[in-house]
Amino acid sequence: MARSEKDEILRLKEVYKSFLQPSIFGGTLTKALNGVSFSVKKNEVFSLIGLNGSGKTTCIKTILGLTSADSGEVSLFNSDGSDPRLRSRLGYLPEIPYFKGDFTPLEMLSFWGRLSGLRGNYLRERIDTVLGYTSLTQHARKKLKGFSRGMLQRLGIAQTLLSDAEFLILDEPMGGLDPRGMADIRRFIQEIKEEGRTILFSSHIISEVEKLADRVAMIHQGRIIKITSPHENLEEDFLRRIEKAEKDLND
Ligand SMILES: Nc1ncnc2c1ncn2[C@@H]1O[C@H](COP(=O)(O)OP(=O)(O)O)[C@@H](O)[C@H]1O
Ligand SMILES: [Mg+2]
Repeated sequence: MARSEKDEILRLKEVYKSFLQPSIFGGTLTKALNGVSFSVKKNEVFSLIGLNGSGKTTCIKTILGLTSADSGEVSLFNSDGSDPRLRSRLGYLPEIPYFKGDFTPLEMLSFWGRLSGLRGNYLRERIDTVLGYTSLTQHARKKLKGFSRGMLQRLGIAQTLLSDAEFLILDEPMGGLDPRGMADIRRFIQEIKEEGRTILFSSHIISEVEKLADRVAMIHQGRIIKITSPHENLEEDFLRRIEKAEKDLND
């Protein structure tokens, strides 16, 4: 195996995924992923940017095995991803974290921890660590009902860190957050990287991506239109490329 391949933690090769949406005319086909290829290297912060509906969440769900691709290859940790044990090396923050208002962070984290196979003292230590890390210690026994969006998102991050995963996949981690909430998430991503972990996150907030990512893949209508390192005017560049992609499609 070539060194560059060994350093890869994730590789997508020509991944296609369509959804059939039933209608009175027999249904329309949405090509959510249209031949997506890219790879993520170990210890990299890799960002997937695109407009709403461009295919980011579908791409992430395909990587996680939550949706199956119609064709193409997804390889995780240099294997075909079919071994369920690989999942324990992954952390996932869904786009809209699901939390029950009547529960407390402590209860939710114990539940998730046990789902991931953590038990006893080790689980208690991990919970203390992630609560401290996300500044939720003093809220650990409060009901989630009264939590702000930022606090819920921090709990989501705490959950993804619980099992000490080496590769974290975060779907729109800054979605709906105020500047302070965004700064918190930015700090977590930077710290997680410093610990030697790898991060893939999706976003449509280009200014945040510019500050964080080592590499950026621009996705539009299910196609990767450019992979680049963040640079000044990333947003302008992104919008220009989208316009060009649309023009090319219409020509
Ligand atoms: N389960 C589904 N059923 C039908 N269409 C879907 C489904 N999931 C996603 N889509 C469609 O696929 C496209 C890409 O969606 P998505 O991956 O959620 O984009 P993003 O996360 O970039 O906003 C959209 O047109 C969306 O409507
Ligand atoms: Mg999405």
